[in-house]
Amino acid sequence: MSTTLRELFDQSVGFLSSRNLYYGHGVETAEDEVLLLLMFVLDMDYATFNTQPDYEVHPEQKLQAENLLRKRVEQRIPMAYVVGFSVFAGLRFKVDHRVLIPRSPFAELIDLGFNPWIGFETATTVLDLCTGSGCIGLAIAHYFEQAQVDVSDISSDALELAKTNKRLLGLGANVSVIESDLFAEISGQYDLIVSNPPYVDEEEFAALPDEYTYEPKQALVSDRSGMEIPVKILFEAPNHLSEQGFLFLEVGYNDEVLEDFFPDISFEWVHLSMGGQGICVFSREDLLKYNPLFKSFLQDNVT
Ligand SMILES: C[S@@+](CC[C@H](N)C(=O)[O-])C[C@H]1O[C@@H](n2cnc3c(N)ncnc32)[C@H](O)[C@@H]1O
Repeated sequence: MSTTLRELFDQSVGFLSSRNLYYGHGVETAEDEVLLLLMFVLDMDYATFNTQPDYEVHPEQKLQAENLLRKRVEQRIPMAYVVGFSVFAGLRFKVDHRVLIPRSPFAELIDLGFNPWIGFETATTVLDLCTGSGCIGLAIAHYFEQAQVDVSDISSDALELAKTNKRLLGLGANVSVIESDLFAEISGQYDLIVSNPPYVDEEEFAALPDEYTYEPKQALVSDRSGMEIPVKILFEAPNHLSEQGFLFLEVGYNDEVLEDFFPDISFEWVHLSMGGQGICVFSREDLLKYNPLFKSFLQDNVT
């Protein structure tokens, strides 16, 4: 008996929904996970998928979808790893266990062109620190062709994948890939620094759903209630920003933890209407003003 795309979609959603799974690795619902799965199995893009509900699925494709669904459910592997890709800022990124699955609310800022803080007519040099799959920096390079973008990470494994994504997106000389422990190997001055660094506390990490155990721990965990790496970035960033430059730093749901460490700083949090939280923005001038506070945090808390 033949199965249509719509029927397979509904059956698959029913199967996933009946299990106690965690969603949130780039997609938020069983429906979105099945969409990702069927785009992969049927080699369809989103638009084709939506306009062909009566497409007849080949029995082998149906079997493949069922096998992958079982893998998702039995091993609790996030769907993006099962299919090997994720969609971020409207672009397809290859992902595997070497990198965090892209899901940052930075996608909304890219969509806004970082307005009103800085526009891409002025931001010609960009650094994506802690780039992982490359998703944030490569999306910026894709949408803002005149920008010179450096993407960097401490993990050479992650950077291998970032290089693959750079190639798959057809990006060239306007993107450089740099292996660096935070700013250690960074020599440039940037109009815009973006970073989604690790900010999860070790205890929080231990309590996360099974799906997170497939992501590199180095991509998630940071000491001092998650804030050691973010504060190092806040401390060092002004040395690498141009006069009029801005830093956008994500600390997610730990925004209050950061605020509690620095009661004397008036944080500006980006309003995110598409979901997610915890991207703060600083001008170079403000980072310099608060520099002594970051310095004393690091002296007191980091050996
Ligand atoms: C939360 S992931 C973010 C990845 C990607 N930017 C995204 O939004 O999906 C953090 C990344 O920071 C990298 N990282 C961890 N410690 C680092 C360090 N000291 N210097 C540079 N990168 C680091 C990890 O390898 C990981 O790729």
